[in-house]
Amino acid sequence: MDTTKTKDDTAIAVQADKLNAFVRTLAEKAGVSSEDSAILADSLVEANLLGIDTHGVSRLPIYLKRISLGLIDAKAKMTFKKNMPAVGVLDAHNGLGQVAGVRAMNEAVKLAKECGIGMAGVKNSQHFGAAGYYCTIASKQGFIGMAFTNAEPALPPWGSYEAFFGTNPIAMSVPTRNDVPIVIDMSSSIVARGKIVAAARKGTPIPADWALDPDGNPTTDAQKALDGSVLTMAGPKGYALALMVDILSGVLTGGGSGKGVNSMYKDMAHPANVGHMLMAINPEAFMPREIFIERMQNLVAGIKSLKKRPGTTEINYPGERKDRVKKTRKSSGITLDESVVRELADLAKELNVEFKL
Ligand SMILES: NC(=O)c1ccc[n+]([C@@H]2O[C@H](COP(=O)([O-])OP(=O)(O)OC[C@H]3O[C@@H](n4cnc5c(N)ncnc54)[C@H](O)[C@@H]3O)[C@@H](O)[C@H]2O)c1
Repeated sequence: MDTTKTKDDTAIAVQADKLNAFVRTLAEKAGVSSEDSAILADSLVEANLLGIDTHGVSRLPIYLKRISLGLIDAKAKMTFKKNMPAVGVLDAHNGLGQVAGVRAMNEAVKLAKECGIGMAGVKNSQHFGAAGYYCTIASKQGFIGMAFTNAEPALPPWGSYEAFFGTNPIAMSVPTRNDVPIVIDMSSSIVARGKIVAAARKGTPIPADWALDPDGNPTTDAQKALDGSVLTMAGPKGYALALMVDILSGVLTGGGSGKGVNSMYKDMAHPANVGHMLMAINPEAFMPREIFIERMQNLVAGIKSLKKRPGTTEINYPGERKDRVKKTRKSSGITLDESVVRELADLAKELNVEFKL
């Protein structure tokens, strides 16, 4: 892989297509089919392109480690069962979360074409990375996409300091008149846990209001935070949202929920047992598509025309800033932390794949 050092010598810029090819090769070497490796590479590199580095290629080493331990089945034959005209469940049979997420959203879109709405639950899955990725599969085809996933226990219900819910993200993508869809994509924690994982990897402190240590005290130590719990977004409201996501992704799909979801990093004896919920809504079930797009355009124009606070040059809608990051990173390369590059280099060595710095 050709990489160049950026001005900040702890970060390295890598071209997206080369990173994509490298991830595909590593995944294939680890036993993933070429079709599924392409899905995995595209979803991880897309997260990096959008600046969501916590959910990009930095996750590849743990996925491949879990494959080598037999905790993820690289060759899983996933099955989709339609239960009602607009609803079905995909059993990921312990395959990769990204592959399950893409397959399930494709099924949801198919159902939404016929029924106006499509819901595809997923059980027996894994961490699937950035939830927004799956929603844009729908919005690129003119549908509203929604995605939810549970995750390993990290958040305490309000009033407790015991990790119970995952950082359970909520995502939605809506087509707009231009080629930049609205993408709302956020964890129900105060920050995505990936940011704490990244701080622990680098050995840097975290803000004191992000997490509690295992005894329930606020901590700036990223490792103690990972051993303890991450605080919810907006206090008790984040708890309520995490609960909602767990009901949709875990309870309703027949997957794991609450403490029934296992840790990807700490539990090297059991599959993760993650559940997701993917939804597609067909605007044509409500009004002609063109009218919907026009109404969306009016809404966006209304937001953009508002009076700006000092220091604000433009009011963005969710998805716009990340799209600009993507355009920059496509031309100048993806900036990867040296610690991530080191882990990828180790992985390449292990799998006997060329890694050229
Ligand atoms: N798979 C999992 O288990 C898991 C768990 C948690 C989070 N995640 C992923 O982590 C990623 C990061 O989550 P996060 O909570 O840190 O997100 P974030 O805080 O970076 O962004 C949250 C939302 O706010 C919007 N936003 C932020 N600043 C904005 C601005 N100035 N103008 C307009 N919109 C703005 C973003 O577009 C986004 O929709 C997401 O992709 C999420 O899906 C995955």
